[in-house]
Amino acid sequence: MKLMAFNGSPRKKWNTATMIEHALEGAREAGAEVELVHLYDLDFKGCSSCLACKRVGRKEVGVCAMKDELKPVLDRVREADALLVGTPVYYGTESACARAFLERVQYPYLNYANYDKSYFPRKIPTGLLYTMNVQESLLEILGYPVTFERTRAFLARHFGSCELLLSTNTSQYKDYDKYETGFDKADKARHHAEQFPKDCQAARELGARLAQGYQS
Ligand SMILES: Cc1cc2nc3c(=O)[nH]c(=O)nc-3n(C[C@H](O)[C@H](O)[C@H](O)COP(=O)(O)O)c2cc1C
Repeated sequence: MKLMAFNGSPRKKWNTATMIEHALEGAREAGAEVELVHLYDLDFKGCSSCLACKRVGRKEVGVCAMKDELKPVLDRVREADALLVGTPVYYGTESACARAFLERVQYPYLNYANYDKSYFPRKIPTGLLYTMNVQESLLEILGYPVTFERTRAFLARHFGSCELLLSTNTSQYKDYDKYETGFDKADKARHHAEQFPKDCQAARELGARLAQGYQS
């Protein structure tokens, strides 16, 4: 069992990456081999709409024709047994880099002739993890759950299943005194000390579940 995880934050040691590391730890403990890809390290773009992956008579299905640094990663995704995508929320949605990745990793598997029959060769479990500044109580008001659910449902459609995990009210800065902020610093510190470890534990458990493989 191989789990591939993707960090859609430019920061390699902050909230999203920390949550992903815990998920990978849980997966490792459950016996999975893991690989972490920091998407911001790669030179790639989102789908170019060349439509080679939709061409009638194409030699292979489910393969993106774009040749860039994401290509070998997408080749490995084909062999993976589970996927985990982690992203910070930027302007109410995934980071641009995570979005570009989601387009590239999914569109070749989208079967226009039969939406329910993905071109991905088998069913695998996936996880989708968001970290964000806002407090949980504001999610509905801001309309975030609709966005999260849309992306979750697409991953489930393309790969088999997808579990969503959220971490709200994250600490964006190590030292809130050094940066412009309108946030309640004491609340941020308290949340980081008390809730974030619980979020990381939930990520660890998610990783362990992903390592069990696809459950119908
Ligand atoms: C460009 C940018 C846009 C952001 N937009 C939002 C937003 O719309 N909603 C929100 O809750 N947090 C927003 N944030 C905060 C991040 O989502 C939050 O701090 C996240 O946990 C950062 O993840 P990281 O520590 O892994 O980089 C934004 C941060 C940046 C840099």
